[in-house]
Amino acid sequence: MANFFSKTIGSILGKRGQSVLGIDIGSSSIKIVQLSRKNGHAVLETYGELALGPYAGKSVGEATSLPPEKVVEAILDMLKEKEVNVSTRVCGVAIPFASSLMAVMEMPVQPQKQLEIMVPVEARKYIPVPISEVALDWYIIPKDKNPDTEQVPEPDAKLKTQNLEVLIVALHNDTLVKYKDIVTKTQLDASFFEIEIFSTMRSILDQEITPVLIVDMGATSTKLYIVERGILRSSHSVNRGSQSITDELSKSLGISVVDAEYLKREKGLIGEVNGVKVKEVVTLTLNYIFSESNRVILAYQKKYNKNVSKVVLVGGGSALKGVVDVAKESFQTEVVAGDPFAKVVAPAFLEKVLHDTGPEFAVAVGVALRRLQELD
Ligand SMILES: Nc1ncnc2c1ncn2[C@@H]1O[C@H](COP(=O)(O)OP(=O)(O)OP(=O)(O)O)[C@@H](O)[C@H]1O
Ligand SMILES: [Mg+2]
Repeated sequence: MANFFSKTIGSILGKRGQSVLGIDIGSSSIKIVQLSRKNGHAVLETYGELALGPYAGKSVGEATSLPPEKVVEAILDMLKEKEVNVSTRVCGVAIPFASSLMAVMEMPVQPQKQLEIMVPVEARKYIPVPISEVALDWYIIPKDKNPDTEQVPEPDAKLKTQNLEVLIVALHNDTLVKYKDIVTKTQLDASFFEIEIFSTMRSILDQEITPVLIVDMGATSTKLYIVERGILRSSHSVNRGSQSITDELSKSLGISVVDAEYLKREKGLIGEVNGVKVKEVVTLTLNYIFSESNRVILAYQKKYNKNVSKVVLVGGGSALKGVVDVAKESFQTEVVAGDPFAKVVAPAFLEKVLHDTGPEFAVAVGVALRRLQELD
């Protein structure tokens, strides 16, 4: 299996504006997407993926926890890889959900000025380190609108006494220092760091009005988050990912991790070795991930009395052949594979490959789209 996966689209799309990169440093691979703007559209110029396993003495597809200097080495390798042919250093960089801390706090309704003082005070209860050690961001989760009139109901006496919901997002200063250092050492021109969830929301969602659950099946973990009207409402992490599936296959079938990874990618759930079906071996892991997802859905439905209307699968783990069908059996709602490249213009001949590999690039595409917006 190649270390690299890439496609350079290059010159056939004609003259374009400034190019930008979206960079996603995942636990198993770095994903990079280069976009530019042409006639108001985001145009895909090139994209690629570099497996990180080999930088940690592991195989392709395996999760790593690399020291910063190895990440720097990998990014530099990626930037100079001729097949990807990246031509800019202007970028944004995603930060893993696992490096962040998010919580929804309830607070009494109060003026904005007062909130600015009180939110950091209240946030201390949720953040296990001194507040001076984190960068804190927050927003008020909007109250429900009246679905009949699309109006926010007049604040009556009862509503005024109701609590506000505030989503807090914290990043440890050490994390920011680490990423800034990586950017400096790779000579990238990064204008922002963004927690990956927000990047995926940008590339995947289409102004859906009803709640959507996004399931990002990465290598080490599966990230779950509910978004309603473009606003992140709740987020969770499940400590099983696609690598759990490879490990399961390797153990149960008595094959090497490399062979198990190959089997998983090539055959997916229809694979079979000596009469043992892949689907049977990995059912436990998939069921665990989807039942955790259902718990998140149920908790949301109970709290807000609203149905989650769609489940969108992203991340490399969602490229597993047949997984969408299994998910359909597990959820009582519509399930689709995310298609981040649907938001960019690309040559028609790439349609199928972009559709198939797309979910893995949801974060990188979202980051690149934001960087592109910043140029407008
Ligand atoms: N075609 C495929 N079929 C099945 N699994 C695949 C396929 N392509 C990639 N994967 C799996 O997806 C996982 C990588 O997904 P992804 O790139 O989203 O993870 P990551 O971003 O590196 O990890 P994380 O988000 O946990 O930090 C690997 O375990 C890999 O084996
Ligand atoms: Mg990821």
